[in-house]
Amino acid sequence: MVNKITVVGAGNVGATAAQRIAEKELARTVVLVDIAEGIPQGKGLDQWESAPIEGFDTRVIGTNGYAETANSDIVVITAGIARKPGMSRDDLLNTNAGIVKSVSEQVAKTSPNAILIIVSNPLDVMCYVAKQVTGFPRERVIGMAGVLDSARYRSFLAEALDVSVHDIQAMVLGGHGDTMVPLISYTTVSGIPILQLMKKEALDAIVDRARNGGAEIVKLLKTGSAYYAPSSGAVQMVEAIVKDQKRILPCSAWLTGEYGQKDVYLGVPVKLGRKGIEQILEISLTADEKAALAKSADAVREPMSVVKL
Ligand code: APR
Repeated sequence: MVNKITVVGAGNVGATAAQRIAEKELARTVVLVDIAEGIPQGKGLDQWESAPIEGFDTRVIGTNGYAETANSDIVVITAGIARKPGMSRDDLLNTNAGIVKSVSEQVAKTSPNAILIIVSNPLDVMCYVAKQVTGFPRERVIGMAGVLDSARYRSFLAEALDVSVHDIQAMVLGGHGDTMVPLISYTTVSGIPILQLMKKEALDAIVDRARNGGAEIVKLLKTGSAYYAPSSGAVQMVEAIVKDQKRILPCSAWLTGEYGQKDVYLGVPVKLGRKGIEQILEISLTADEKAALAKSADAVREPMSVVKL
């Protein structure tokens, strides 16, 4: 366990992430921060009151300021507005950029050594904003997207094949949007290549559903976007860092030439440990996957070039 983890944004994703972190006892203290008065305090207190029943000793506190967050080991940023039906993640661009900018400025001042996990959308561009504003190295500004997109893809595969989710290995790379790149060549069921177990047409339909997994939930909820699986994704990354697990997970990382891409945040396989990103793994891709990744990088660069810093 680490000393302190801060979650900024006490909305659906942030509050659920705080609860998962506390229940897993990943930190001594979890600080929930939000601009809405009373909300982080109320949710933090409510979660702490569940501790005797759930049996965790992590203290959860809520606040509207950053004094209590000082010297956090990890900061998860979920602040911002969520999608409504008909909106793309890019529609959130300037509102969320302003929010992530002001949050990042505060975090850089109060927790200069923290590892940041960004969840706010549009994800890859928000990572860029946080990295530019804090000046933190790329090892410590990491985006949560691939873990979620891969989990959606894996859950649909497990359902279609009627097998355990534990046995589905899969990775989704690229930007967190319509251009994400599910790697069919690396999708296996206990090591068995997926196309030995499923017809290409059925797999294509699942890939398509995973690509639109966020929109499917937005359409159902009508008033907001997904939060159970997104908070799980963020907390899996937190756990890998806290426990120095050296897990290989698809995360959004600042590329400096890997996969032929430079100066852009993109989902790639990384090794996550106590220092944050400890390695970016460059795996071989098919020509189609390479082309799809390049297209995805361009789709991230476009909003990146217009975002106000
Ligand atoms: N500082 C702190 N918190 C803020 C700020 C800010 N400057 N601006 C907004 N918030 C808070 C809101 O008050 C709200 O409580 O962020 C919270 C967002 O919560 P929700 O509206 O419930 O949104 P949520 O579903 O949690 O999604 C948050 O994560 O997955 C992404 O696309 C999603 O960008 C969205 C973010």
